[in-house]
Order: sequence, then structure tokens, then C-alpha cells
Amino acid sequence: MKVTVVGAGAVGASCAEYIAIKDFASEVVLLDIKEGYAEGKAMDLMQTASLNGFDTKITGSTSDYSKTAGSDIAVITSGIPRKPGMTREELIGINAGIVKSVSASLVEHSPNVILIVVSNPMDTMTYLTHKVTGLPKNRIIGMGGALDSARFKYRLAEALGAPISDVDGMVIGGHSDKGMVPLTRLATRNSVPASEFLSEERLQQVLEDTKVGGATLTKLLGTSAWYAPGAAVSGLVQAIACDQKKIFPCSTLLEGEYGLSDLCIGVPVVLGRNGIEKIVEINLSDAEKAHLEESAAGVKKTNALLDA
Ligand code: 2OP
Repeated sequence: MKVTVVGAGAVGASCAEYIAIKDFASEVVLLDIKEGYAEGKAMDLMQTASLNGFDTKITGSTSDYSKTAGSDIAVITSGIPRKPGMTREELIGINAGIVKSVSASLVEHSPNVILIVVSNPMDTMTYLTHKVTGLPKNRIIGMGGALDSARFKYRLAEALGAPISDVDGMVIGGHSDKGMVPLTRLATRNSVPASEFLSEERLQQVLEDTKVGGATLTKLLGTSAWYAPGAAVSGLVQAIACDQKKIFPCSTLLEGEYGLSDLCIGVPVVLGRNGIEKIVEINLSDAEKAHLEESAAGVKKTNALLDA
């Protein structure tokens, strides 16, 4: 299993590290435009192999896409991260051009590749990747919901005073501060609805804290987060590489599902060796449906900037 990660910045390098430590891929190629940067990170990561006990071979390359040839999965993290006070949507001007060229180069060298888009604004970058590559929809996946759901579980566990392993929850909708839809109604503590432990107000606070999870960290760090984004996308890579048939909320092209079309937005999907094996249409409450539709309108507004 060959995996390429484009962008050897904090998110890309974290993703490569988590993939290596999980040791399910034979090879990870790290690519960056900055001279020597990907090579250095790959070498540094390889020098943890005996310490972290993995056999995955990590190599680095400066912009030489021939080194990515034959990749089964490729993760696109390249682009600029947001700064404190910025929205993800404000990154579109620079990141659209980067994602356009990166996705085309990846497919040119790996015609059968499954692409996972991380660069922001992620839902729009995922939609752009469809336009640029024309790959079948099962092979283009946007990573946002897996990260937002991890943050949701973190906030739920904090509110419940429970171990994270006892908590479950999912965030659907756009990967944006305003567009996320944390499904508090379906959140559970060991199969018991979280609403049996937490008041409506406390659950609402969990929902609000989840929506600004990225912005909260950007304010603290001065740049976008990387550990949880890297870990979240490594989980998608593993689900595909190991044909796990796991359900994740991922940004995918909708063609009528959830009553939505012609956009990529986070909904539950089954991930396996073919990428998105099935879009799972769960029953949503009227309020959840309304939030998802509102989120979709926001994503489409950002998509329109691509043609501006
Ligand atoms: C985040 O939410 C980078 O969009 C990513 O941290």
C-alpha cells in the first residue's frame, strides 16, 4: 500500500507519522515545494522507526511527482493555514490554485489513486478536486467531519466527566465555524443518550465549543492545529487501506442525497478499499435537516468564489 502526503507542513508530517506508527502502509511519500523540507522530515521520521517500532518506509521529495507514481491513496494538505481571526473560507484565493495543480499532478502519476482533501476551505477544495480531476465520486474524500467529531467527543467527555472511550458522537455539515452540525441528539455515553446526563444548555455549549474547535486552537497556537487533523486523516487512510468498512462523516459529492446536490459536504459514509463505498442517509430531525441545508448554502456560497 503506497500513500502519498502532499505538504510536509505540520498537518502533513503528523499524518505521515501516524500512518507510519500504525504500520499498515508499506510506503509513505512526503512531498513539499520547499527545497529539502520533505526529505528532512521523512528522514527524521524514519529515525523514529526503531523507537516507534514500524517498518513503513517514509521518503521525501521536493516537488518530484514521479516519486508518487502508483500511489493507492494521496492526501492533499498543501496550502496556507489560517491565522488567528481568519475563517477557513478566506484561504480560497491561494489554496484553490495549489489544490488544482496538486490534484492534477497526483492523478497524472497515479491514475487509480483515491484522493483525500484536507486543504481549506476543505468542502470547496474537495468540490474543486472533482472539477479538476473528473475522478469518480467514490475516490474523492474531504476530511473535516472526522476531525470535528473528534473535537465533539473531546467536549462531550469533558462535559460528562467521562473517558473518551465511553463517548460517541458525529459532526456532519460543512467544515466551517458556522456550518458544522454536531448531532447532539445522537451523542451517547456507552450507548446511553448524552441528553440523559447533560442539560439542553450544557449540550448546546458542547455544540458551540465544537464548532469553534479549530478557531480556538488557532488563537492559542497562532496557526492552525495539526495533531488532531493529522490523526483524523490517518484514520481515513487506514480505513481505506485496510478495507475497514468504517463509517466516518466525510465531505463527499452529493447528487440528491439528503435532498442536496452539486456540492461536497460532510455526511456519514462507509469507507473501504474503494474509498467511499456508500453514502449513509440517516434520519435527521427537522432542526438537523434545517441546519444541514443552511450549512450547504454556506458551502455553495464559497464554491461560487471559485468562478469569481
Ligand atoms: C482545523 O479545523 C485545519 O481545518 C483544520 O483545525
